[in-house]
Amino acid sequence: MSSTALADARPDHIPEAVTYDFDMYLDAGLLHDPHARVQELVREAPPVFWTPRNGGHWVVTGFKENYEASRDTEVYSSEIQPRAMIEMIRPMLPPDIGHLPLPTPINLDPPSHAIYRAPLQAAFSPRAMLARKDEIRELANALIDRVIDQGHCDFIPDIAEPLPVQVFLKMMGLPLDRMAEFRELVHEFMAPGEPWDALLRMRKVASAMGSEIEARRTEPRDDLLSLLWRSEIDGKPMTTELMEDFAVLLFIAGLDTVINGMGYGIRHIAANPEFQAELRADPKRIVEAAEELLRRYTFTVPTRRITRDVELGGAQLKAEERLMLFLPGADLDPREFENPGAFDLNRENNVHIAFGVGPHRCLGSHLARIELQVIYEQMLARLPEFRLDPSKGAKFHGGNIIAIDSLPLRWD
Ligand code: HEM
Repeated sequence: MSSTALADARPDHIPEAVTYDFDMYLDAGLLHDPHARVQELVREAPPVFWTPRNGGHWVVTGFKENYEASRDTEVYSSEIQPRAMIEMIRPMLPPDIGHLPLPTPINLDPPSHAIYRAPLQAAFSPRAMLARKDEIRELANALIDRVIDQGHCDFIPDIAEPLPVQVFLKMMGLPLDRMAEFRELVHEFMAPGEPWDALLRMRKVASAMGSEIEARRTEPRDDLLSLLWRSEIDGKPMTTELMEDFAVLLFIAGLDTVINGMGYGIRHIAANPEFQAELRADPKRIVEAAEELLRRYTFTVPTRRITRDVELGGAQLKAEERLMLFLPGADLDPREFENPGAFDLNRENNVHIAFGVGPHRCLGSHLARIELQVIYEQMLARLPEFRLDPSKGAKFHGGNIIAIDSLPLRWD
């Protein structure tokens, strides 16, 4: 965007000093080498800046500023699609569309947020997740079996995507033979689109689980859908609508995220043969490596709605503006991490915010960590040295998740 166009697009209350032209969906650098571009962004733009792209919004790249905004839920609301707005969109949708599920509790603010988060808390405890480790390892191995002899694979569609989809199906109590259908739903969900596309896609995801949700109401099993049916919300029994809201959140939060975490982690390990050899020789270091990989390649960008005029990191924000918690920038902020671009397993401060911070901090972090550790462990244990395919580069796309779509690998 030219400097005149930038100035024209800028609202009066936003000074030039905090304006920076950044398209979180289509920025060329982000699509080429995402975290190199994130570092450039942190260097070039103020820690809180306004971009005219995508309707105009704030982007927070500073660590301290992300921390502050994530914890102040009164000013920075997670109700980015309030029910009232959805009702405005409804007339544009097919009349028989029914309940439009909203991912719950990620779309709620305190105090109701805690009431809706409670039923999921026990299901995602570190103990409950650890109990799944062997099963996750088996699934990972079966996927590696399918590519090991061919000497190459595209890590994203071949391994990073089917693994969390299978874990999700098992946890929810959905049949594994519906894997292809659910992978298709993930693809559709991840594609760019308008706000109402998101609503329609969430409806589709809920419908795909509809018959299983209903079946568990009367015939519970040992799975998450049955556990949710048994839960009471604020003393009231569960409803089909709320079951759909929870199911949609678990689908979005549990699939699209882990796929990318695995992708960036394996990309780094493949691109750094010495580090790969060190990890292979000392697999105990995988736990800390997984953590530093999450910091170095943080990839989620949660959205907030500003509820009243406020100052953040030197910028004046106004009520009803949108703000992106650009966590990838926060974890590469030199004011927080010494030499943040270095990959260093021995860094003194490794407390990253890849899983967010504040009341919405990721509920699935224990599961995600196990999935990441297991895939690094098994790729290193089963394959000889693997490297990036020099003839085919990785592919990325932007948005609220800086995603990796393709990662061709080779081994001898
Ligand atoms: C590497 C993988 C993952 C990353 C980087 C990640 C990141 C995040 C982040 C940054 C948030 C906070 C969003 C916000 O503040 O608005 C969040 C929330 C959440 N995540 Fe994850 N996540 C991952 C995997 C998972 C998995 C496997 C699950 C489980 C199915 C999960 C379930 C959730 C849920 C339920 C929330 C909402 C919590 C709430 O609103 O109280 N996540 N995640």
